[in-house]
Amino acid sequence: MEFITNNIDETIELAYKLGLKLKAGDVVLFTGDLGAGKTHMAKGIGKALGVKKIINSPTFTIVKEYQGENTKLYHLDLYRLEGLNNDYDLEEYIETDGVCLIEWPYQVEEILPKEFIKVNIEITGETSRKINIECTPKYKEIVGDLR
Ligand SMILES: Nc1ncnc2c1ncn2[C@@H]1O[C@H](COP(=O)(O)OP(=O)(O)OP(=O)(O)O)[C@@H](O)[C@H]1O
Ligand SMILES: [Mg+2]
Repeated sequence: MEFITNNIDETIELAYKLGLKLKAGDVVLFTGDLGAGKTHMAKGIGKALGVKKIINSPTFTIVKEYQGENTKLYHLDLYRLEGLNNDYDLEEYIETDGVCLIEWPYQVEEILPKEFIKVNIEITGETSRKINIECTPKYKEIVGDLR
């Protein structure tokens, strides 16, 4: 399913609508170039889950954990995973007790779950984005409702 956003607020709004449907255990993968808007989508989802803290890029920490109203939110950014040479147990965050958002998911393809929502963001202009949302069967209803 494809969406066009013309500014940051529209991207956050789309993410917010998606976030309202998410619950613990759900996984959303984000792809797209540096600066495409993946972290801004995370902000919108966090808002929907009732996260009070500001969600910003976790690039230097790999994982950030937030408390929402009814669920935790795990925000993973795997962009620098390889350079870090550490042993994060990423499976602690995926399909567990929180909503899990993963930027740059294909760094760790082997730990990705079978069911997920995938959001790809394409930069189409200074403030415009083409946002494609796909999913596996578990999430068909959630994604279908975004229209
Ligand atoms: N329509 C839009 N939607 C989202 N972000 C936009 C839009 N138009 C402009 N921007 C800008 O694009 C940038 C998106 O940054 P963001 O950190 O969300 O990207 P990212 O995909 O997470 O990048 P990275 O891969 O570096 O983590 C911000 O500077 C934001 O202001
Ligand atoms: Mg980011």
